[in-house]
Amino acid sequence: MLHKDVFEQLMSEEEIEKTVSEIAAKINEDYSDRPLVVVGVLKGSVMFLADLYRKLELDECQLDFMAASSYGSSAVSSGSVRITKDIDCNVKERDVLIVEDILDTGNTLSFIKEHLLEKGAASVRICTLFDKPDRRKKPIKADYTGKVIDDLFIVGYGLDYSERYRNLPYVGVLRSEIYS
Ligand code: PRP
Repeated sequence: MLHKDVFEQLMSEEEIEKTVSEIAAKINEDYSDRPLVVVGVLKGSVMFLADLYRKLELDECQLDFMAASSYGSSAVSSGSVRITKDIDCNVKERDVLIVEDILDTGNTLSFIKEHLLEKGAASVRICTLFDKPDRRKKPIKADYTGKVIDDLFIVGYGLDYSERYRNLPYVGVLRSEIYS
C-alpha cells in the first residue's frame, strides 16, 4: 500500500531492481579494464548506491562519499552549492563515477564534477537514477541514467522532502498539498 502522502507510484521495487541491474551492466562493461572510484553523494543516493555498488563486478572499485547541499530544508534549489563532506581518497589521475539519486537543476552535480576535476581526476562520469532535463540550469548531462522524468516532486528510495520519505522502498510522486 502506498504512503498516504504519495499520489502515485513512479517506480516500483521490481522496476528499481531492473533499472539498477541495467545501469550496473553498462558500468561493468565500460570499466572492465580500469580501476574506478565510486563517489556517492549523500544522502539521497544511499539506497541506489548500495544496490548499484553490490552489482559492480570490477576488480577495483573504491567507494567514497561526498555531501553537498543547495536545498537546505527548502524545496527550491538556492543555486549556491556547499560541500559539507569531501571525499577522503585521492582521485588524482583516477577515473571517478559520481552516483546521485536525481539530476535536477544540475547545480549540485556541476559543482561536484568540477570539484573532482580540480582535484586531478582523470575522468569524471555521472550516474543518476532520475533525470529531470526540463529543470536544468547548468549544461550538464548524465552518462548513466535510470529514468528521465517530468517535473514531478518524487520521494522514496533515498529521496526526501524535508528529510521525510527516504525510507519508502519504492519511488512515488508526492501529493502537491504536502509541499505547496
Ligand atoms: C538532492 C539530490 C541531488 C540534488 C539535485 O540533494 O540528491 O544532490 O538535490 O538537485 P540539483 O540538480 O538541482 O542540484 P539535496 O540537496 O536535497 O540533499 P540530500 O541528497 O541529502 O537529500
